[in-house]
Amino acid sequence: MGDTTDLSRRRLLQYLGLGAVATAVIPEWVFAAVEQGAPERSGPSDPDVEIGMTALTTEVPILSSDRPTKVWRFSGELIKGPSGTVEEIPGSYLGPILRLRQGQKVRIRFHNKLPEDCVIHQHGLLVPEKADGHPRHQIGSGQTSVYEFTVLDRAGTYWFHPHTDKRTAEQAYYGMAGLILVTDTEEQLLDLPRHEHDIPLVIQDRSFDDRNQLRYIAHMHDRWMGFLGDRLLVNGKPDFVLPAATRAYRLRILNGSNSRIYKLVWSDGSPLTVIGTDGGLLESPAVRNYVMLAPGERVDLWTDFRGRKLGDEITLRSAAFSGVMPMMGMGGGMMGMGRGMGGGMMGGMGAALPNGAECPILTVRIVREDRSDQPALPRRLSQIQRYRPQDAANARNPRSIHLSMMGMSPRLNGRSFELTKVVEDEIIPLNTLQLLEFVNRDHRARGMMMAHPMHIHGQTFQVLKRELAPGFEQRYASVSQGFIDNGWKDTVLVMPGEKVTILKRFDRYTGLYLYHCHNLEHENMDMMRNFLVQA
Ligand code: C2O
Ligand code: CU
Ligand code: CU
Repeated sequence: MGDTTDLSRRRLLQYLGLGAVATAVIPEWVFAAVEQGAPERSGPSDPDVEIGMTALTTEVPILSSDRPTKVWRFSGELIKGPSGTVEEIPGSYLGPILRLRQGQKVRIRFHNKLPEDCVIHQHGLLVPEKADGHPRHQIGSGQTSVYEFTVLDRAGTYWFHPHTDKRTAEQAYYGMAGLILVTDTEEQLLDLPRHEHDIPLVIQDRSFDDRNQLRYIAHMHDRWMGFLGDRLLVNGKPDFVLPAATRAYRLRILNGSNSRIYKLVWSDGSPLTVIGTDGGLLESPAVRNYVMLAPGERVDLWTDFRGRKLGDEITLRSAAFSGVMPMMGMGGGMMGMGRGMGGGMMGGMGAALPNGAECPILTVRIVREDRSDQPALPRRLSQIQRYRPQDAANARNPRSIHLSMMGMSPRLNGRSFELTKVVEDEIIPLNTLQLLEFVNRDHRARGMMMAHPMHIHGQTFQVLKRELAPGFEQRYASVSQGFIDNGWKDTVLVMPGEKVTILKRFDRYTGLYLYHCHNLEHENMDMMRNFLVQA
């Protein structure tokens, strides 16, 4: 490969967020695999980690043990690799937590025992297209497929879920999702809370019938606005209580809901200390009064309970906010329909707990005093190399993605998903930095505009800027301070009236990589397209 080798090494290091000095810590075979494009064609022949993952139907006790709930779930089994790589969450419908290390070669043997097609997507990780879970790779009931990839991404909280054509929302809703926690040398060198003090929290809303069974879409309007449940679950449990000691914790929060957006606050008014986002640690902690978390997004919090008293309780809540849902009867195309259906600024129309309504998420209860030596919040968490817009291959010509509602069908640049099709502006040259903008300003249907959490497969990206069109300020006011945009992201919430510009690299692998709205009902309604990354 001659002098492209150095270039790709430099890019890999850049991607891993490391300077040249770090060359020594990256095993030679990572470069070898990357340079030869080996994972794409054959996959690692001798994986460090091999996992058996089965999608199946089962029952778990959610609301009561004598009336269990029928769910679908991923069940994992470690075939090869360090013990602790696959950790099941007892009694939960959630899939196992996969604990991986940067540089590991991973093989997942997927057995589909659902009564329908399925495929696994590794959300947030850069993997070869065959391991990325594109719907064209979904397999039928009773079939098996193998995903092989090298963990290239930095330490962070990632996750996996199905990406089945027009079935992702249902499959995720009935339970199919799990976390992937990646660690790396940079993170290991920090004194962050570990083990039982490093707590993953998956937030989801569900709705149950009187026999404790999950209830999905009841009305058509849930489908185009997104499903909203009235019961908040954390790690698959209602009324979640976290017993804690008077010490520092790392809380890694995933919004695994289909369409609910959260405005995270502590009930006693304490600010939140954010140490990470979708793609791992920030450069330095960010302190906020509230944090917005849209479906698919993750946030990593440093939470210190020192100074609390035994028996104290603090609740993590979603505070009330507005502006994310269509504004019925506010000059939109749905004028007149809204009033009778309980619409308005809150949106959610018929939903028992509308998007933006206040609700408790979990309670922390102080049960133990801890006077041992404790980690202090590091001032510097990681190194992030900032992309520069002038370095983008299309610096003068950003690729615009317009979000819209055609009737009741959400679209991207007026288009719906086509399994393998791309149009010209969806073809991206390999190894380029691209300027992309998500534009949520469909003025023809102003009242129908809603917030869309936009997600792109492949490498994580950086948010360059948010611009709000005049006239949207009031609608934006209650969420505007809650975006953590200075870390690595794979999903970004685009509010009505906003244009969000991002910088994203397309390195390493060619092929079809999806971009879509992570409101899973919107994804199901084909608010999704392919990028074709081409050498
Ligand atoms: Cu988490 Cu394409 O999705
Ligand atoms: Cu994804
Ligand atoms: Cu959407």
